[in-house]
This record gives sequence, C-alpha cells and structure tokens, in this order.
Amino acid sequence: MSAPLRVLVSAGPTREFIDPVRFLSNPSTGKMGMAVCAAAVAAGHVVTLVLGPTHVAVPAGVQVIPVVSAAEMHDAVLAQFGACDVLVMTAAVADFRPATPATKKQHKAGAPLTLTMEPTADILMAAAARVQRQVLIGFAAETGAVLASAARKLREKHLDLIIANDVQYAEAGFGAARLRAWALWRDGAERDLGLADKTALATFIVAEAQRMAAARVPGI
Ligand code: CTP
Repeated sequence: MSAPLRVLVSAGPTREFIDPVRFLSNPSTGKMGMAVCAAAVAAGHVVTLVLGPTHVAVPAGVQVIPVVSAAEMHDAVLAQFGACDVLVMTAAVADFRPATPATKKQHKAGAPLTLTMEPTADILMAAAARVQRQVLIGFAAETGAVLASAARKLREKHLDLIIANDVQYAEAGFGAARLRAWALWRDGAERDLGLADKTALATFIVAEAQRMAAARVPGI
C-alpha cells in the first residue's frame, strides 16, 4: 500500500439562521461524504471530516469537526487545510446567508417577509489560493447543463477533479444511495460514471486522490 494520506472531507448541509428559531438550508444528508470517509479509512488514510448538521452516522476512525454555518465550515476547512494532502468537498454549502440575522424570534405581522441575503465565501476557492501540494476535489450539483456547469466550476475553483451530479435524475441525488455522475479532470479528461453507487463512487474518488497525490509528491 502507498503511504497514508491526510484526507480532509467536508459533508452535509449548512444552516444559515434568519433568527434564533429559523434557518435556510438544503436537503444534503452527508451520505456521499461519509462514503468518502469510509473508503479513505479502508485505504489506510488519516481522515478528518468537517460536518454540517446531519443524522447520518460517521464511519469509525474519522476525526469529526462539527459546524453549522457556511462561515464556520469555511473557517474549519481552512484551519485544517495546510496539514492535509487531499481535500474532498462533498458539502452542500449555502451560497447566501441572511445579511442581518435577528437576535430575537421575529413574530409574524401578517405581511410578506423580505430577506436580504449576502453571498458566503467560496471554500474551495479560498483553499485553491493556499494550495501547496494538496489535491483538490469538488462536486457539482446541477439541474441542467450538467457538464458545462461542472467544467466551469472545475476551472474557476482550480480543482484537480470534479464529480458532476445531476440532482434531478430519477432515483439519484440528495439522500439517495446513488448519483448520476460524471468525472471531469483538470487536464480536460472526462468520464461518464453512469448511475453510480455512492460507495463505489467514493472508492473511485479515493483511488484518484491517491493517484494524483502520488504524481505530485515523489515517494507517496
Ligand atoms: N463550495 C464551496 N464553497 C461554497 C459553495 C460551494 O467550497 N461557498 C463547493 C462545494 O462543496 C462543491 C463545489 O464547491 O464541491 C460546487 O458546489 P455547487 O453548489 O455545485 O456550486 P456553487 O459553487 O454553489 O456554484 P453555483 O451557485 O453556480 O451552482
């Protein structure tokens, strides 16, 4: 076996609070990230998981850093990034958060509620700006123009590999056991992975991470 890698994984949704009793989120369960963690542990790697709120069980042998918001996930991932060899961002990170969350519960007044949202920081882009030896792997959750959108994200976020995923495909997507997936690499290579089981997809991702890390650091 090759030398163990330090693998940093993010998983799950984030929550962006409007007031102390309400938040905006998404249907991510964290299953894909858990599968990546399990595959990485099985391959002998050292795994740290930055995990948004979810009830899905974490595989044994994984160090977990729990977070709630996109800002917390950003800070936790970047705090760990310098010490990792591979970052796999499976998390469904909120792109916007309420600009001025209320500190007290907002009572209804019978009128429509308008929220002003501000963008959150992009975690992969921040990691890419600090990259040394690290392999960067992302996911692209899409509902149309899947490959074109994923190729744009691969380029803009300076990734080595992106797994494109059609979240509207029947039996696939958030919470399901499978994903309708494609792999796109930095060098322009592309592979249709079909309706992929999350466990098999995770094994593929870990194998690719090992291959790319070995190509980067002689001796691994
Ligand atoms: N991601 C991230 N930081 C964010 C948002 C997303 O690092 N603030 C990561 C995700 O974990 C994923 C990849 O970027 O690995 C693509 O996420 P996705 O939600 O598909 O795309 P977005 O970057 O949000 O772009 P868009 O809004 O155009 O779909």
